[in-house]
This record gives sequence, structure tokens and C-alpha cells, in this order.
Amino acid sequence: MAENVFDDKAIFYSKNCLDKFAAFIQNKIKAQRIFIVCDTNSSKHCLPYFKKCVGDKIAINIIKIKAGEVYKNFETIGFICAQLNKYFATRNDVIVNLGGGVVCDAGGFAAAIYKRGMHFINIPTTLMAMIDAAIGGKTGINFEGLKTILAHFIFRLPCL
Ligand SMILES: NC(=O)c1ccc[n+]([C@@H]2O[C@H](COP(=O)([O-])OP(=O)(O)OC[C@H]3O[C@@H](n4cnc5c(N)ncnc54)[C@H](O)[C@@H]3O)[C@@H](O)[C@H]2O)c1
Repeated sequence: MAENVFDDKAIFYSKNCLDKFAAFIQNKIKAQRIFIVCDTNSSKHCLPYFKKCVGDKIAINIIKIKAGEVYKNFETIGFICAQLNKYFATRNDVIVNLGGGVVCDAGGFAAAIYKRGMHFINIPTTLMAMIDAAIGGKTGINFEGLKTILAHFIFRLPCL
């Protein structure tokens, strides 16, 4: 696994890095459970492969949001937070954003505000997310027609 560490951010990239995902979560982040935020497309095209790689080594809850830029909004953040409440998420759990830039931005924003902040990991599934959104060090949502106007900078961002 190749690894670059810039300050508190870590970016992992290699063909089979998901095989080491469960060990990374348990040993480095010391979490026993993950919440996967995905959208209707990444849940169909990417989640099965993710689950196959991770196996049953770690408990998984799925939070599926609607796909598309129009859903990068407060309503989606409310939905994600309601799901975290429903499953009694703690700050020791980890949010895993499996999807494109919208999933990374919305899931990251929810992680930033829920219980004053949870760890999160982006697993980008579009080119845009791979080269920018997942590693850009920012999250956010659109509001009142303004693009990513509610946003924040990330200081700890492990990426796969
Ligand atoms: N935070 C940042 O630094 C940063 C940087 C650049 C862009 N962004 C944000 O990223 C967003 C754009 O990202 P995007 O282009 O990935 O859009 P997106 O997340 O909407 O994804 C595009 C489409 O591809 C689908 N998709 C995702 N993965 C797929 C897969 N593996 N197979 C098939 N379909 C898949 C999605 O469901 C969606 O319909 C914008 O909201 C932009 O503001 C953020």
C-alpha cells in the first residue's frame, strides 16, 4: 500500500488497498463500526465490491442518499444525521463516504457537525472525486441556490 501523509491527512492508493480497510479502521482509528454513506448509484455499482473486500470483519450500517447535485442540501444532511441517531452512532464510529463528490461533500459535512465531529473516510468512485473532491480538504452543501456555501475545512482526513 502506498501512503502519503500530509500533516493530519492520509491518502492511500493502490489496486488492493480495500483489502486492508478493516485492519486500518480497527487498528489505526480504533473503531468497531462504520456508517457507509453512498448514493443510489454507488450503492449499486460500488457497495457490493466494498463489502466483498471488507467481509464481516467490521460492523456496517448503510446510509443511502439520493444521487445528484440537487441533493447536496440540508435535507440530505438531516437524513444522514437522523440515520446516525437511529443507530446510536457515537464519536468512536466512522463515516465512510463511498461515492462521487456529492457523497464526499455531504457525508463529510454531516461528519463534521454530528456530535461536534466524527472521523470520516472518503472512498471516491468518480474521477472528479478521486482527483479533487475527496482529497481537497473541504466539505459542504449548497444552500438557497448558492454552491457549497455552507462548508468547512477538514483538518483530519484519511482517504482511501
Ligand atoms: N470538496 C471539494 O474540495 C470538492 C472539489 C471538487 C468538487 N467538489 C464537489 O463534487 C461534486 C461533483 O462530484 P462528481 O462529479 O463526482 O458528482 P456526483 O457525486 O454527483 O457523481 C456523478 C454521478 O455519478 C454517479 N456515480 C458515482 N460513482 C459511480 C460509479 N462508480 N458508477 C456509476 N455511477 C457513479 C453518482 O451517483 C452521480 O449520479 C460537486 O458537488 C462539487 O461541488 C467538491
